[in-house]
Amino acid sequence: MRYLHGSNKEALASALIAETTRAFEARVGDRFRIALTGGSTATTLYPALANTPIDWRAVDIFFGDERCVPADHPDSNYAACKLAFLDAVVAAGAQVFPVNGELVPEEGARDYARTLREVCDGVLDVVHLGVGPDGHVCSLFPGHRLLSEEHALVRSLDDSPKPPPSRVTLTLPALRRARSLWVMAFGPTKVDKIRDALRGDTTLPLTLAVRTHPNVLWFVDEHNLASFDTPS
Ligand code: 6PG
Repeated sequence: MRYLHGSNKEALASALIAETTRAFEARVGDRFRIALTGGSTATTLYPALANTPIDWRAVDIFFGDERCVPADHPDSNYAACKLAFLDAVVAAGAQVFPVNGELVPEEGARDYARTLREVCDGVLDVVHLGVGPDGHVCSLFPGHRLLSEEHALVRSLDDSPKPPPSRVTLTLPALRRARSLWVMAFGPTKVDKIRDALRGDTTLPLTLAVRTHPNVLWFVDEHNLASFDTPS
């Protein structure tokens, strides 16, 4: 397990740019497939990603989860990422594959699974995982039935405990197929859950995503660093 620590957002953004460049250069196929997160990662770190010195024409951009709202809605993860950096990298040649948040959620999930299969056979190079204060990743919440999904790569839910309730999300099988998972843990609200995940608490979606994955990279700030310094 590797973790990168930054004491401020500039340091974390530099680490993200460096790791993205490294992963792009080490990619297995011709193209580089990455899935984005929303939340504070999108608003604080993604603006710098546009400066990553890679050939964006070889990059396909997906989303780890999406709220079922129109693409220009303030709750849309796509909208947050577009505002942060997508316009710049699309101008540089990147392809973006948003979830269609205007379909009935189940149809949106089927549609996104189809896209993922067609574009990259369901194998992403890097998935960014924001972490909620309850230990959720993507839209996989503690105790939710989607945690027992064994096959589908994308599912929908209409009962998200965090609003808005209707969402489309990558599943644990999709995260297992990804070549690497990059966990983004900033701020004081998730310190306990990061520590519990590192100790193997399998009630947490974060733990279920990372515990057997061979290639997990953690980006953490000072709040969350202590969890790594004092593993049990
Ligand atoms: C959502 C958010 C959410 C977010 C985490 C981490 O769909 O509800 O995208 O999953 O990624 O809650 O958010 P912060 O990084 O802002 O803490």
